[in-house]
Amino acid sequence: MTAPAIAQRAITMQVERGIAVLTFDAPGAPVNTFTAAAQQDLRSAFETIQRDPAIRAAVILSGKRGNFIAGADIEAFLDFRTAEDGEAASCAGHPDFAAIEKGKPVVCAIDGGCLGGGTELAHACHWRIATDRSKTAVSLPEVQLGIIPGAGGTQRLPALIGLQAALEMILTGKTVRAKKALQLGLVDEMVHPSILRRVALQRALELADGTRQREAKHKGAGEMLLDENPIGRAIVFRKAREGVLAKTKGLYPAPLAALDAVAAGYTSDGDGYQTEARLFGELAMTPESQELVFLFFATTALKRDMGVEVSPLPKPLPVERLGILGAGFMGAGIASVASPAGTIVRMKDADTARVAQGLAAVREVMREKLVKKQVTRPQFDDLLLSVSGTTDYSGFGNVDMVIEAVFEDLQVKHQVLREIEAVVPPRTIVASNTSTIPISRIASASVRPERVLGMHFFSPVHKMPLLEIITHDGNDPQVVVSAVSYGRMLGKTVIVVRDGPGFYANRVLSPYVNAAGLLLDEGVSIESIDDALVKFGFPVGPITLVDEVGLDVATKAGAIVAEAFGARMAPNESIQRVIRSGRLGRKGKRGFYLYDDDGRKGGVDASVYDLLPTGQKRTTVPAERIVQRCVYAMLNEAVLCLEDGILRSPRDGDIGAVFGIGFPPFRGGPFRHIGRVGARAVVETLDELEREFPGRYQAARTLRAMAVSGAQFYSAGKPV
Ligand code: 3HC
Ligand code: NAI
Repeated sequence: MTAPAIAQRAITMQVERGIAVLTFDAPGAPVNTFTAAAQQDLRSAFETIQRDPAIRAAVILSGKRGNFIAGADIEAFLDFRTAEDGEAASCAGHPDFAAIEKGKPVVCAIDGGCLGGGTELAHACHWRIATDRSKTAVSLPEVQLGIIPGAGGTQRLPALIGLQAALEMILTGKTVRAKKALQLGLVDEMVHPSILRRVALQRALELADGTRQREAKHKGAGEMLLDENPIGRAIVFRKAREGVLAKTKGLYPAPLAALDAVAAGYTSDGDGYQTEARLFGELAMTPESQELVFLFFATTALKRDMGVEVSPLPKPLPVERLGILGAGFMGAGIASVASPAGTIVRMKDADTARVAQGLAAVREVMREKLVKKQVTRPQFDDLLLSVSGTTDYSGFGNVDMVIEAVFEDLQVKHQVLREIEAVVPPRTIVASNTSTIPISRIASASVRPERVLGMHFFSPVHKMPLLEIITHDGNDPQVVVSAVSYGRMLGKTVIVVRDGPGFYANRVLSPYVNAAGLLLDEGVSIESIDDALVKFGFPVGPITLVDEVGLDVATKAGAIVAEAFGARMAPNESIQRVIRSGRLGRKGKRGFYLYDDDGRKGGVDASVYDLLPTGQKRTTVPAERIVQRCVYAMLNEAVLCLEDGILRSPRDGDIGAVFGIGFPPFRGGPFRHIGRVGARAVVETLDELEREFPGRYQAARTLRAMAVSGAQFYSAGKPV
């Protein structure tokens, strides 16, 4: 017999055969999160469960398809004013999960994403079942928000799956899919979604009857040795700390704090939970966490933005068949993300050898997916079958979109555009992957310029998250919306920018790289320039970056912006001299750094100094000044892009810089960084730099006005 439902706001409870079935389905919300109200619902549901003798066990399910629980309500973090607020929020949840852990048997039935506090709730239950759906995955992503698990995750997870596996999850925030979760002992069984509820109820009954008991995960001898004695654990913690420092260069406090919280759980005074809550509160107030939380909201807000301001919003046109022109580095890269998104791809190049090379490059990316078990063998075969090659336009007669990635040459682009338009249907969208040529110039050769836009992917395409979509004044809004929608289908973070030299990403990168080149001109060492910017938080320094993208590509981009912006971007001497000597960077195995035959980077190639203006004579500039000279040029340029209407919002500028050019995420992006430093201080530094380097650092009007008025790029709260 089924008892009537007891309505709760986010969690409803039904009792079936003595089992309380709790369904978490936050009303009106896209995902379930532990808001204060939901936490209260959970608390009262479990008070009822523990009190009512007719209830013998419980099951927790989600009412949201594809989503179990997305963790704590991150929006609530914006209200924390002190570390004590965060600590109190963490402490408030501890007794609830402790009561679940100590009370009647609870089965956690996970279907879809189970993140953060959701995972911590699962830890407190007595039996965990995950569905075998690909969306089902468990994770503790807190470090990615600059915090640590604050609902007992640092304490219960090591006990559940062992110290080393727990640290791997907590320190990286990595997602664990159901099959792996089963292997780790993170869940106890895996079932098809259609039987999840039935199996969960059955397990709850068995646990209540005592006919089933959870067995602790069997640990191997090595794992026992390391996990279960203080010396072994000390080794594990030391190695983990070294790993974190090597990866984060000490710039992210959360993983180090997570280690402290986990370690506190092994001390005899048992204050692990308190330490966790204290560190959670402290971290929530750090600038690093605040910027990472900002980025989370900025990215989710961006997902709803279709890039045009028209009403009603046109419906995106489907892109099921894609033609790619140029099977080179970028063309093949684009094919390798289009095929997994379910698109049928036709790739054209000038001759069969190049087509074959392109197909081989696609195969290589798919093989990587196979090795990492992201796809099965049959899926791998299907992915390869969906990409075909040609040397003529056969197969282009019914494509929905063409992306051209031929040589960076306006004449070639015009020629292929004419050829494309002669064979594709009138509805086809034609996108150029140009990195520097203004889209309006490319579109000027088109018979349907309203359907031509830029889709600027970053290399390597399958790894770089950003896609910059470039529009010109004559674009049909539906074409823009369709390109945005397709870009998201490819898994990209999409910003829409207006046409202009360098668009956004390359435009802000240019003065930054140029400033590094000017430092080289003065005789500053390559290492000290790169080190200073890596310590600021960029993944690689600007000189390494030039080697990576290729000196030819970097100088071409530099020339375009120099022509457009004059003195501000007048090129440095050093990079020009090095390219003139024939060095191309990593791809030519000679650049500022040494590369072995496999392209692996070594140290600085000392002989490169012979090519530079000061030869082997070195001078020093303090690291702080190196950072100012490079970064402030970028900050100012980002604001100029906003003034020029290239950017639609500071939010797009921040996301574009973080996801496209590696601006340190924990600094939020150029606009957030200006906000943190203060416009007045930024202008003062720019003025000082301008006196030293006339014409290069003239502060943007907006910045000057903000320095006086105190205005900010962002208002408080969640970015929209
Ligand atoms: N808190 C508040 N809002 C959240 C949220 C959360 N934990 N998770 C998602 N949302 C919101 C998003 O902001 C978005 O809001 P909007 O519609 O107003 O823009 C909406 O839910 C939908 O989110 P997505 O567009 O991202 O939906 P997807 O289906 O693409 O992805 C997701 C769903 C995988 C759950 C993704 O949203 C996500 O990764 N969320 C963050 C999860 C997370 O970091 N959890 C840890 C929180 S910290 C914690 O739990 C602390 C604990 O230890 C105490
Ligand atoms: P690439 O030289 O590796 O590939 C270009 C390919 O186009 C070659 O295979 C060539 O044979 C082919 N091609 C030339 N003319 C053709 C024609 N008429 N028909 C068919 N195929 C033709 O160059 P890459 O690096 O892939 O660059 C392509 C485009 O992408 C350029 O516009 C470049 O600016 C842009 N881009 C490059 C990035 C990079 O990091 N390499 C990053 C972002 C954009």
